[in-house]
Amino acid sequence: MIYADNAATTKMSPVALAAMLPALEDNYGNPSSLHSVGQHAAELLQSARETMARCLNCKPREILFTSGGSEADNQALLSAAELGRLKGKKHIISTAFEHHAILHSLKRLEKQGFEVTLLPVGPTGTVTAQQVKEAIRPDTCLVTVMYANNEIGSILPIEEIGAVCRGACCSTPTPCRQWDTCPLTSRPSTSIC
Ligand SMILES: Cc1ncc(COP(=O)(O)O)c(C=O)c1O
Repeated sequence: MIYADNAATTKMSPVALAAMLPALEDNYGNPSSLHSVGQHAAELLQSARETMARCLNCKPREILFTSGGSEADNQALLSAAELGRLKGKKHIISTAFEHHAILHSLKRLEKQGFEVTLLPVGPTGTVTAQQVKEAIRPDTCLVTVMYANNEIGSILPIEEIGAVCRGACCSTPTPCRQWDTCPLTSRPSTSIC
């Protein structure tokens, strides 16, 4: 388990800082540009993408860099909801103590006709996989649950929740997909059927 944010109270690791400094000092070009400064930045970006893909055991093209946690949350949530909408599924499950980047986006989706179930958080500061299982419906298109709470640091049983979602996906008659997103600054984990 990689918990990369430590509730936003930990200074950056010296290893990460050392890796970033050359990019900030020397390879500062726009990686989309054709000039050599931009091309150097593009090479560095590609190398970082490949390193992160190896660490996360995924394909480099599956890594999306964003400007921060809210953008990552919005990108994952809104695009997953859109895929659900296209299949006629408009029910979303989340937790009552998500970051506002998720809760506010869920409010917006409610205004667009989605139905949202917010699971209550128990005395140990988490939700259980059983709660998720009981909330899943035939029209559920998305379960979005944070990996660790940004205020109280409780770790959610994300592997068990993922297994419940995969089980629900496999029991639906229509083709479905499942994936996880872990933006390193905000660590939400999202599954979609
Ligand atoms: C779960 C979660 N989502 C989103 C954010 C917001 O991140 P940012 O300020 O980079 O947009 C945070 C910040 O701590 C977070 O913990």
